[in-house]
Amino acid sequence: MEVIPASRRLDKSEVPVVDIGPLVRGDEAGITATVDALARACSDTGFMYVKNHGVPSAVRDELVKQCALFFDLPIAEKMEVGTHKSEFFRGFLPLKYKGATSAGENMQEGFIIFHDRPVSSASPMYGPNQWPANPPGFKAAMLNYFAAAEKLAHAMLPGFALALGLKRDFFAPIFSDPLLMLKLNHYPPQPKPEDGLEMGVRGHSDSGGFTILWQDNVGGLELLSNTGEWIGVPPIPDTYVINIGDMMQVWTNQRFKSTKHRVINTYGVNRYSIPLFVNPNYHTMVQPLVGETSPDFKPFMSGDYHYAVYRRIYPQKVPAPV
Ligand code: OGA
Ligand code: NI
Repeated sequence: MEVIPASRRLDKSEVPVVDIGPLVRGDEAGITATVDALARACSDTGFMYVKNHGVPSAVRDELVKQCALFFDLPIAEKMEVGTHKSEFFRGFLPLKYKGATSAGENMQEGFIIFHDRPVSSASPMYGPNQWPANPPGFKAAMLNYFAAAEKLAHAMLPGFALALGLKRDFFAPIFSDPLLMLKLNHYPPQPKPEDGLEMGVRGHSDSGGFTILWQDNVGGLELLSNTGEWIGVPPIPDTYVINIGDMMQVWTNQRFKSTKHRVINTYGVNRYSIPLFVNPNYHTMVQPLVGETSPDFKPFMSGDYHYAVYRRIYPQKVPAPV
């Protein structure tokens, strides 16, 4: 049985609040301070809070409202749009969707969209989203938020490039048609978290470029520090948490850290979070882009990699043989 070690409080220097206003506004004034802070955060814990992010609070609040209404629906109604009905990992994920394993289950339900793309044999993740009939405002809220969060994702790219001493448009071609996954997460309160059998989401790193995470005011997100301690990353109003994913760690030759994190909701109330997983173009070959590349490194295709990951973890309608 896995024992959950005690977490400790965050020291503010471990996950700094970075003012990304200059990146969002495309403004030269103040950009140096932003880029310096970004560079430090990415190479230290790979986690930061960002403020002045440009996502309208009304757009976010509307999605948060619709998100709670959706997860409140009866399970049978939610399963009408379950990912098990999609070949493309779109739709609802029921609680404990990873199934029972000896390591335990994730106490999380979810809802996933990507961009709607024409089905293509060259990109097996392209396809249509599934939409529930209820709540009626759900689809519009999701798409409005998706557009606003995608803008923020693109505003971050020059920041990462400048933080690496590269040209500001360095990442643009890699993210010209990005495989963005927008996910709603619902973490019900956990009855007995200390036995280690149930966790909101177990320790993992994110697989793509980076993640833009909105979390509500409940708390429960923790990161695994360089010293091996789990550290709380508590909510700060009007900020996002941005964390580096595995592919950004590869591109930067480990300069930027893809740090393990997990969620335990011990607070007795529902917790909601909304990650946008910022994954590069399907056909991007992932390999180190700065510094020396080890001759042993085998480049891999971003989309194929994600396809394999999602097939492992999400229920899916098996594609018909061609
Ligand atoms: C994730 C994740 C954190 C959260 O979905 O990959 O780490 O706060 N979520 O929900
Ligand atoms: Ni994660």
